[in-house]
Order: sequence, then C-alpha cells, then structure tokens
Amino acid sequence: MNDFADQMRTVAEWVEKGLNRHLTADGLSGVGTPPERLIAAMRHGALNGGKRLRPLLVVQAAEVFGVDRERVLPAALAVEMVHCYSLIHDDLPAMDDDDLRRGQPTVHKAFDEATAILAGDALLTEAFALLAQSGLPAAVIGELATASGVAGMVGGQMRDLEGERAALDEDAIIEMQAMKTGALIRGAVRTGALIGGADDGQLAALTRYGALAGQAFQLADDILDVTSDAARLGKATQKDAGRHKPTLVSRIGLEATERRLGDTIHHAITALSMFGKEADGLRATARFFADRDS
Ligand code: IPE
Ligand code: IPE
Ligand code: MG
Ligand code: MG
Ligand code: MG
Repeated sequence: MNDFADQMRTVAEWVEKGLNRHLTADGLSGVGTPPERLIAAMRHGALNGGKRLRPLLVVQAAEVFGVDRERVLPAALAVEMVHCYSLIHDDLPAMDDDDLRRGQPTVHKAFDEATAILAGDALLTEAFALLAQSGLPAAVIGELATASGVAGMVGGQMRDLEGERAALDEDAIIEMQAMKTGALIRGAVRTGALIGGADDGQLAALTRYGALAGQAFQLADDILDVTSDAARLGKATQKDAGRHKPTLVSRIGLEATERRLGDTIHHAITALSMFGKEADGLRATARFFADRDS
C-alpha cells in the first residue's frame, strides 16, 4: 500500500473512532438528556462509511507546519460532522430526494424526515460546541461558520436548487460549486493552516489550493454520477440529469468536464509550489480527487 492510501485509511479509522466516542449520550453536550432516537439518527448519518476526506485535509494542512494530528482532532471531527449534516439534509425529499447514502438507507429512510432534519441540526450544532470546548483559536470557529453558512455551503445548496428550475451558465455553475462543495473543502485546508500558524503568504497559497481542490471535487462528483454505479459509489447514480441539476457535465459535456478536472487539479498542485515535501500529502489528495472512482 502506498503512503497516501495508508494515511487515508489511518485518518478514516481515527475519525470513525473519534465520532463513535463523541456521538453518545455521555459525549454529547447539553442541558437535558439527548433523545436516544436522535442520537441513533446522528450516528446513522455520521458513522460507518464516508471517505473522511475533509478531516484528511485538516490533518495534511496542519502537517505542512509540523503540527501533530491529535491537536487538530476536534477541528477534524467538527468539519466531518458539518459535512455529514449537509449530506443528511441534501438527501431529504425536499432537496435531492435520495434513498441510498454510503451504501445504506439515507437517514430519512432509516428513521423519518423530521428525525433526519433534527439529526442534521444536531450534528451542525454539536460541531460548534466541540470547537468551542476545544481550546482551538476562535478563527477556527469562524472559519467553519463562514465555510458552511449562507455565502458558503448552505448558500451553494440554495443555488443548486434554484439551478434545477432556471438554467445556470458556466460561470454560475462554477460559483455554485465553489460554494456548495468548495467552501467546506477550502475551509478544511484553511483550518489546518490556521492551527499551524501559517503566515499570510502561506495561508493565501493554501486557500488557493483548497478552493481549486474543492472545485475539482465537485467536478469529479458530477462525472461519477454519469460514469459510475451505485455499487461502487454507495449512492444512486444517473440522478443529476433527471433532476435537471446544474452541472458542468450537462452544460459542456463529459469530455470537456474531464479536461477541466485535470486542469483544475494541475492548478491546485501548482498553488503548493512554495512548499517542499511537507505538502506531499496535500498533493497526493489532489491527485486522488481527480482519479477517484468512489
Ligand atoms: C459527497 O461528498 C458530497 C459532495 C460534496 C460532492 P463525499 O464524496 O466526500 O462523501 P463521503 O463523505 O465520502 O460519503
Ligand atoms: C452535495 O452535492 C453538496 C453538499 C452536500 C453540500 P451533491 O448533491 O451532488 O452530492 P451527492 O451526489 O448527493 O453526494
Ligand atoms: Mg445536492
Ligand atoms: Mg445530492
Ligand atoms: Mg452528486
């Protein structure tokens, strides 16, 4: 197994363990006793599966500054909890209406819609509770908030839904993707960099890397919707065209999108040119984003 595959597996196991410990009646914070059904729905949406790529980026960006993995654990878990909440809500009938996620029934299928909405709400809120208790700098809390909020992931999801009804042009699609998916990936990279004490130049370079990698990630997701299958992806495919989703694949075609993905990854790696081998993890992840088949 190569170094990248090894690190990806190790980080995924570390995240699984951390979430498994945190998403319990004892681990969760609050005034009263958290309802068991809600904890079960949160666990269904957050455990057992997921590539855990956003935590991996937090770890790898921190690694550029020689920061130990354990120091970024709360940030890595918080970013993944926000991501899992975004997937639970993304799959709801009012949004993409999907029944399969990570090879299992979606949360609203396994439980019910109201419980899925609340499980997403609870994962989002818990992510910030965890960060607030972590002793990490306030900038990290702000980073996750702006990445996931109205001008970030949530705003991008709104634009994605609007784009089902009124066709978006190429630039509008790129901006929507930069928000719905790019913002959290960029935020994950910046979080690691902020914890690492990046200077302005380093932070700017890593921000550029994160934005480009995030862009590429959604291009690959849209390509896989057309070229892959549910057994490999763990979620339904061939869905975007049917729902009139605003994707680059529908606008400029599969081959042009594949070329654009390759170019975007090339630019993401170029953005890291000021760093040496301490950024090899980030380089390998960018390559994986282009080559992934799940
Ligand atoms: C899927 O994200 C949703 C998008 C933002 C495109 P991932 O492909 O990272 O999903 P998991 O976490 O591995 O299931
Ligand atoms: C998901 O985009 C973006 C977020 C969850 C924020 P998609 O709707 O394309 O993701 P999948 O294909 O359902 O995983
Ligand atoms: Mg969606
Ligand atoms: Mg979806
Ligand atoms: Mg998709």
